[in-house]
Amino acid sequence: MAKAKRPVFIFGNWKMHKTIDAAVQFVKDLIPLVENSSPQIYLAVPFTAIKPVSEEAKESNIVIGAQNMNDASEGAFTGEIAGEMLKNAGAKFVILGHSERRHLFNEDNALINRKVKRAIEDGLQPVVCVGETLEEREEGKTDAVLEEQLSMSLEGLTKEQMGDVIVAYEPVWAIGTGKRPVVEDIEKAHTFCREVLAKKWTKGVANGTPILYGGSVKPENAKELLKPADVDGLLVGGASLESEIFAKIVNYQTEK
Ligand code: 13P
Repeated sequence: MAKAKRPVFIFGNWKMHKTIDAAVQFVKDLIPLVENSSPQIYLAVPFTAIKPVSEEAKESNIVIGAQNMNDASEGAFTGEIAGEMLKNAGAKFVILGHSERRHLFNEDNALINRKVKRAIEDGLQPVVCVGETLEEREEGKTDAVLEEQLSMSLEGLTKEQMGDVIVAYEPVWAIGTGKRPVVEDIEKAHTFCREVLAKKWTKGVANGTPILYGGSVKPENAKELLKPADVDGLLVGGASLESEIFAKIVNYQTEK
């Protein structure tokens, strides 16, 4: 099937890596490597790097965002960060419900839903992650897990608000492991996510929502992973930490 008219998105998620200096240097190195590239390029950087990296990337085609935020607008929450602070520092988007947040920090769908709503209110584009564990996959529960996570994390959003949302399918067992589903299974999961969105909202909403794949993406597999019509982009962890490697993924069309 031909690709729908959605742009291709390549996201880097640096997780807890890079000082301010290293982050700024990365962006300086990346800009000339991707300035003529067609995908939309997004980098989710540590909180401390948002402002300096946004300034460095200001005239470029690279969009800077964050990896998490609190669901409250402000308050006595020691160590937490608010959407308004991220926005003010230069973030345009925020990753929410990443599997590391769900599993290591016990975030549930209800909390993620509150964060999504707060992010939209604060003018940040939410990138909402869903994905099954290996056990859930082996028990044949992948679709049920995806439906529950999508439905609950996005509960109560209007059609208009859905226009801001990006979904990322990241099977938990494929993150940082070098393992991943075969492309046919990734395609099935993406098509299923789109059906869930169509059922909960409308076909138009479903077709307008970018759905990214994440989990052990490398320059060698980017082209193959982006082939299915319902895969609109990639969310890259480990392979986003070096500018040359990440640039190869961004330039997947022209790389061998
Ligand atoms: P890896 O690309 O290192 O598998 O990580 C994927 C991920 O978690 C991106 O958010």
